[in-house]
Amino acid sequence: MTSRSCLSIVLAAGLGTRMKSNLPKVMHEIGGLPLVGHVVKALKQAGSERISVVTGPDMPELEKLVRVLAPEATCHVQHERLGTAHAALAARSALNTTSDDVLILFGDTPLVTSETIGKVRNALAEGADVAVLGFEARHPFGYGRLVTENGRLIAIREEKDASDDERKITFCNSGIMGFSGKHALSLLDAIGNANAKSEFYLTDAVEIANIRGLKAVAVSATEVETQGINTRAQLAACEADFQDRMRQAALENGCTMLAPHTVFFSHDTVLEADCVIEQNVVFAPGVKVAAGARIRAFSHLEGASVGENSVVGPYARLRPGAVLGADTRVGNFVEVKNATFGDGAKANHLSYIGDASVGSKSNIGAGTITCNYDGYLKHRTDIGAGSFVGSNSTLVAPVTLGDGTFVAAGSVITDNVGPDSMAFGRARQTVKEGRAKELRERLQAAKSAKS
Ligand code: UD1
Ligand code: MG
Repeated sequence: MTSRSCLSIVLAAGLGTRMKSNLPKVMHEIGGLPLVGHVVKALKQAGSERISVVTGPDMPELEKLVRVLAPEATCHVQHERLGTAHAALAARSALNTTSDDVLILFGDTPLVTSETIGKVRNALAEGADVAVLGFEARHPFGYGRLVTENGRLIAIREEKDASDDERKITFCNSGIMGFSGKHALSLLDAIGNANAKSEFYLTDAVEIANIRGLKAVAVSATEVETQGINTRAQLAACEADFQDRMRQAALENGCTMLAPHTVFFSHDTVLEADCVIEQNVVFAPGVKVAAGARIRAFSHLEGASVGENSVVGPYARLRPGAVLGADTRVGNFVEVKNATFGDGAKANHLSYIGDASVGSKSNIGAGTITCNYDGYLKHRTDIGAGSFVGSNSTLVAPVTLGDGTFVAAGSVITDNVGPDSMAFGRARQTVKEGRAKELRERLQAAKSAKS
């Protein structure tokens, strides 16, 4: 990586009309993170110290996202959508300050890696004035074609402006371009809009650079990394490639997956070494699984952390705020939300544990429900260590059970239970000997009298 300073501009104002969506295109998600978030993340990983994002006039959510992912980044509004060069110039205030390198990236090209961003910067460090990241496209339709001559990049021709011969070129523009800082603004300012779409094309910077005797080069990357998203089909294809990338990384990091293609990741999923992920597991954002844990089939996890050597599922649901200690068990049809499980705690079957704490080594019997919501407010249930909650118990929050408590099966618990106490919250059983036989005879007689 070079020691040159760098300004990165991410273009994200486009409406993406071909998505047929009310959502700005770059806010559509891959792996649970908006497209543009992936680009900002890669830039941060690449150590880009100055990031500017060009947003549309009506994209408050996008600005919020940028503030979370890169608090130091600046946002610039492109008020009219007049093309990619026009968008870049919306960040004129950033471009006016000097940086050795200026990178321009598209918010709709999410899979670019920090290593590849580094390759574009290396080309600048080696003397290029403009460096364009290109790729061999299987289906070049819609992409700008890179026109090269003796290893030099002489122009980028957009689909609608290309000649028949140029359309046959399969080496395409990813949209990621690097400029030497001293030429960037002047090249952008020289771009006009005399083309099929009457737009200011960023890609025209290459021809202008050549006219000025500057050096433009193409740098290659794979299509997986550089694919741009203009349609829902491309979004789905990109998601599939992203999932493959995450699966590969998890396997390389020492995680066992019995059927990797059935496991779905988010951009921030963390799986430590030696965890085992069974078939059909979904990791929504914010999940961490510690070493040696096993996530059994058909489980859904979001905003949750699973401690070492724990077993979750099959068919478990961990919702945001589920924090499981080491050696815990959360079994089939158990839902845990905003609740902590101490080390060795267990809820093995058919439970809802929400807004709660379960002390270490406590056992929650099948069918136990924490009644955390009264229709207006949420309330907590706190269960001490080493407690036993009998099956089919209803814990009406707010309620506290001390350490070492025992709740009789089928109880409705509305009052706190002190340490080492036993609570019965159910009607006492009575047995009437012979009453079943009597009843059967009476009913049979009534039925016979009718027929
Ligand atoms: C663009 C490139 C094309 C390249 C392709 C790669 C141009 C003229 N064309 O085409 O060479 O092969 O990307 O995916 O650059 N945007 C704005 N404001 C605008 C217009 C666009 O911010 O006025 C943003 C969009 O949000 C998007 C990016 O710029 O993130 C690219 O725009 P898009 O309309 O998707 O361009 P493509 O037709 O894909
Ligand atoms: Mg695009």
